[in-house]
Amino acid sequence: MKTILVTGGAGFIGSNLVQLLLRERPQWTVVNLDKLTYAGNAESLADLRSDPRHIFVRGDIANAELVEHLIRSHDVSAVLNLAAESHVDRSILGPGIFVETNVSGTQVLLEAARLSKVNRFVQISTDEVYGSLGKTGKFSEDSPLKPSSPYSASKTAADLLALSYGHTFGLDVVVTRCSNNYGPYQFPEKLIPLMIANALEGRKLPVYGDGQQIRDWIHVDDHCRAILAALEKGVKGEVYNIGSDNEWPNLSIVNRIIEMLGKGAIEYVKDRPGHDRRYAIDARKAHAQLGWSPQIPFAEGLQRTVDWYVENRGWWERVRTGEYRSYYERNYGAR
Ligand code: NAD
Ligand code: DAU
Repeated sequence: MKTILVTGGAGFIGSNLVQLLLRERPQWTVVNLDKLTYAGNAESLADLRSDPRHIFVRGDIANAELVEHLIRSHDVSAVLNLAAESHVDRSILGPGIFVETNVSGTQVLLEAARLSKVNRFVQISTDEVYGSLGKTGKFSEDSPLKPSSPYSASKTAADLLALSYGHTFGLDVVVTRCSNNYGPYQFPEKLIPLMIANALEGRKLPVYGDGQQIRDWIHVDDHCRAILAALEKGVKGEVYNIGSDNEWPNLSIVNRIIEMLGKGAIEYVKDRPGHDRRYAIDARKAHAQLGWSPQIPFAEGLQRTVDWYVENRGWWERVRTGEYRSYYERNYGAR
């Protein structure tokens, strides 16, 4: 029996991961530390409310005392660090909190893991650490790190801090760098859920610039399975790219969503400052060393995701609160 500390477990990937861990490893206990920022939602974990294997703690990963107490008192054997400020556009409007949570918060966790001699620390990083690609090629684990936004710069700092704790202190660290996730429980500020929710509410679908930027999409369950594989089979000190060989220009994604819903009108808006043009992941190392490969074809995963947002309108309507509306106005202008 193992106790795992998952941070950010009330967010999009975190809530899907906690469900998957308890499904796939029924003997495990998950301590879920989440600050419940605008992006965290306890409702996403409603199914686990009476499950004794899930211990939810509302708190900040940057709170050293709390983190050390949790690791020691629950005898945590591994940490999966997902807690982060995760939205590029918000990092352009206000970078400070990205440094506090993504950089300082990660360092606090690493220090606590080191002091408590945790067996493994998995840092959930991102392909955005590599910056942007031209028309050809893919990111490998050896590609240079060239983050473009305050978000990706803060994630790169966290990623390198994690590796430095391995190198300097011998902490058992594994880093995963995944491409764009989609699926249920994603906050409706990110491309796919934003387009679905706006179309369902009869709002315009804001496409940045020419809409020809390319992202490499992976279903969140495939990413979560990769995180579990990294925890169990990853080699100490190694970095694993995670991706699904599934590149699409933004405009084709938006058009597919319009087609699936039978409604929605595009509005071209001012481009994101410093917008990365293309991401593409070479995940061969994860296939070879983790024995992992993605299982969900995009057409099926996207249809399931659209259906989920249609069927769970209450979930995303409730998170479109006053805070969301004021962010929306600041990012897109009043409309
Ligand atoms: P999210 O914004 O949906 O969730 C982040 C969660 O972290 C929220 O529940 C929030 O309340 C919590 N949190 C924020 N600050 C915290 C703090 N100081 N202490 C404790 N909890 C805090 O993000 P997501 O899309 O689920 O991403 C999860 C992780 O995966 C992030 O580290 C992100 O960088 C990484 N990632 C995301 C993607 C993607 O496509 N979404 C791809 C690759 C990597
Ligand atoms: O690649 C992994 C990263 O993917 C993660 O590390 C980040 O946490 C996650 O947010 C995501 O970053 P992106 O910036 O790629 O995702 P986002 O959904 O914000 O945007 C996807 C693309 O769609 C991007 O090219 C910008 C564009 N876009 C986005 C929004 C919100 C639009 O054209 N209009 C929009 O309104």
